[in-house]
Amino acid sequence: EAIAYGLDAPFDVDYHDSVGSTNDRARELAATGARDVVVVADEQTASRGRLDREWVSPPGGVWLSVVLRPEAPPAHAPAYTLAMAVAVARACRETGVDARIKWPNDVLVGDSRETETEPAERGGRKLCGILTEMEGEADRVSWLVVGVGLNANVDPADLPASADATSLLAERGEPVDRRVLVQRILEEFDALTDDLRGAVDAWEEYADTVGRRVRVDTPGGVVEGDAVGIEFPGALVVDTGAETVRVTAGDCEHLRP
Ligand code: BTN
Repeated sequence: EAIAYGLDAPFDVDYHDSVGSTNDRARELAATGARDVVVVADEQTASRGRLDREWVSPPGGVWLSVVLRPEAPPAHAPAYTLAMAVAVARACRETGVDARIKWPNDVLVGDSRETETEPAERGGRKLCGILTEMEGEADRVSWLVVGVGLNANVDPADLPASADATSLLAERGEPVDRRVLVQRILEEFDALTDDLRGAVDAWEEYADTVGRRVRVDTPGGVVEGDAVGIEFPGALVVDTGAETVRVTAGDCEHLRP
């Protein structure tokens, strides 16, 4: 089914059967002045992940990118990404799947804390990744693109073999209505971005990271300790035993408690 058919989103919809990357298309639209648009595609042929990683987009997924022009400083951009993670987690929970967030913005299934086996103990299976891109001046965002890659009705056989990936289909055993899923994600995201501080607070309710031991690979070095909270606009607060560190960027690994 075409996802965008009958979609009643709080954004204008730019739908493609196939596109290179919804983020790239969204950036093109942003460069021409677009705002409050969502690019949705059934298939992506050149999708990108965080940190220049490859992202595979098998059939059945939800691939979308929202273009915003918020009146906000660039430093607030992480809060939009956290808001999207909350929106995705909520929409996934409505399908009956126990979605949780790994800092900053991976949506995973299940709490891995009680798992005895490796490597699932490192943080559950990944359902969704988010890639936010931005252009701005020193004090104002010009545009923001928030891209969502959600393994919705992806056949388990089509999931990337190497990573601990999963899909809503794999978890539920039956497909979801992707149009409803997309609509719920966009409605939640639209509401959450009206109150970014509230969105960051909400993030903590869905977080699998807070309250556990983590190792974060940051541009400034590795930080290991207990994740104790999140701070607006998106810093993870880590108690290393020696000091309290606020981590603003990096790759987070969940450790055995
Ligand atoms: C990650 O590395 O976890 C983030 C993955 C983000 C993938 C999505 S799919 C829709 C949008 N278009 C892209 O090219 N990437 C993002």
